[in-house]
Amino acid sequence: MTDKSRVLIFDTTLRDGEQSPGATMTHDEKLEIADLLDEMGVDIIEAGFPIASIGDFEAVSDIAKRAKTSTICGLARAKLPDIDRCWEAVKHAKSPRIHTFIGTSPLHRAIPNLDMDQMAEVIHETVTHARNLCDNVQWSPMDATRTEHDYLCRVVEIAIKAGATTINIPDTVGYTAPAESAALIRMLLERVPGADEIIFATHCHNDLGMATANALAAVDAGARQIECTINGLGERAGNTALEEVVMAMKVRHDIMPYDTGIDTTKIMNISRRVAQVSGFPVQFNKAIVGKNAFLHESGIHQDGVLKNVETFEIMKPSDIGITETNIAMGKHSGRAALRSKLNDLGYDLADNQLNDVFVRFKALADRKKEIYDDDLIALMSDTAANTADDYLQVNWLRVVCGSDGQEAELKMLVDGEEKSCKSEGDGPVDAVFNCVKSIYPTKAKLKLYQVHAVTEGTDAQATVSVRLEEDGRIVTGSAADTDTILASVKAYVGALNRLRVRSQKTAPDADVKQVSYKL
Ligand code: KIV
Ligand code: ZN
Repeated sequence: MTDKSRVLIFDTTLRDGEQSPGATMTHDEKLEIADLLDEMGVDIIEAGFPIASIGDFEAVSDIAKRAKTSTICGLARAKLPDIDRCWEAVKHAKSPRIHTFIGTSPLHRAIPNLDMDQMAEVIHETVTHARNLCDNVQWSPMDATRTEHDYLCRVVEIAIKAGATTINIPDTVGYTAPAESAALIRMLLERVPGADEIIFATHCHNDLGMATANALAAVDAGARQIECTINGLGERAGNTALEEVVMAMKVRHDIMPYDTGIDTTKIMNISRRVAQVSGFPVQFNKAIVGKNAFLHESGIHQDGVLKNVETFEIMKPSDIGITETNIAMGKHSGRAALRSKLNDLGYDLADNQLNDVFVRFKALADRKKEIYDDDLIALMSDTAANTADDYLQVNWLRVVCGSDGQEAELKMLVDGEEKSCKSEGDGPVDAVFNCVKSIYPTKAKLKLYQVHAVTEGTDAQATVSVRLEEDGRIVTGSAADTDTILASVKAYVGALNRLRVRSQKTAPDADVKQVSYKL
């Protein structure tokens, strides 16, 4: 790379992001997110961990086949079969990359029980192997920020000599701070022979809330690739958020004079899609993409913004692709108006998708007078669509509740056959879930049940998220309805459908998280 101000954006939403418990995406959802990342100008997409499961392998190879401009990368442990499998998946890309890693800190060296010399040998062998397959090899010393400096310099030098073209410095447990993050990159650039020939990347987790600051500090010190995810999705507290680093460098270009190839007007759309397909809603006050990020509630702020928008806004909503006017739609709005509104909100729907949403929109409009942008976003994020293709479908529900107790009666289709049940429970949701369990017995454990009101008012829609766990597999279902109990059962049944699909595709021991630490 000759332009010293250019910072590469490496997005790992589909690998590190998807590793967060419950954030699993279907194959088609992964392809859709990859297309959006490619269109927005992400330089490198880390599309998955090919050895982890057949599903991951297929997703990475299909993404590799369709990517237009992004480099497509797959993750591999420091094992030859992992690297071979990774290459098999990424080799279809116009620009493929193998990313191989090993934990180099004392704690991580202890897991495979390798001493410093033995690990150095493994690094030499695996990076050489990767480079013999692919010209573009990234190597990561996992837990670099807790690795002894002398050893870190030694292994980085070995990886460079073995052919790595990018060296990523992960702060795997979100332990570092900005000054230290910068000092580490500076030290490597100064001490490691050949360091000026390769690109240093920064990969920060957000355990102490410093991931974005740490990544930008590393760039100031000379790193030229930022690893990040949409909405900061990722294990535990997540990763550096793409939208934060990109907008920070754009808005404060005076003190961070670095450029990316990202079309920032695509940010809001992809943020919404990732929130929908991962089942991880964006917190209201999240920087850049939170619902409140551009709202001015207090009188002083509203007054200032009306007189001169720059008094309280450092960037324009349109910079990240927000164009909505929040004019309510209603039951007289037609298909064309719905399409145009959804386009404004960043959804580009095929005709059959529009037809499906239009039916649900009309059903909602019959129950709710005014339909706001947030109602439409909730409608679009309904992952439990309850369509004719689903193995389990909710057909009919009646719930009686009050001070005398709660009872639910439910009719469901199981593989096309109608089944019904009546159950009691500790509250209406419990009664309905008991019905589902007696119709479709399951070992799945309920890990999360969450309800949000989409808008204000007693006729507001509720979005319900249900997270289930079975044999180490975690899935999320979400549904929206003005009837909270109906949304709850649809979310629950949606999650059961996803669990069924996942268990058919992956062996229980093929979970990405387990694989990543069994070195
Ligand atoms: O956080 C981390 O260390 C990782 C590596 C696999 C790069 O995600
Ligand atoms: Zn990570």
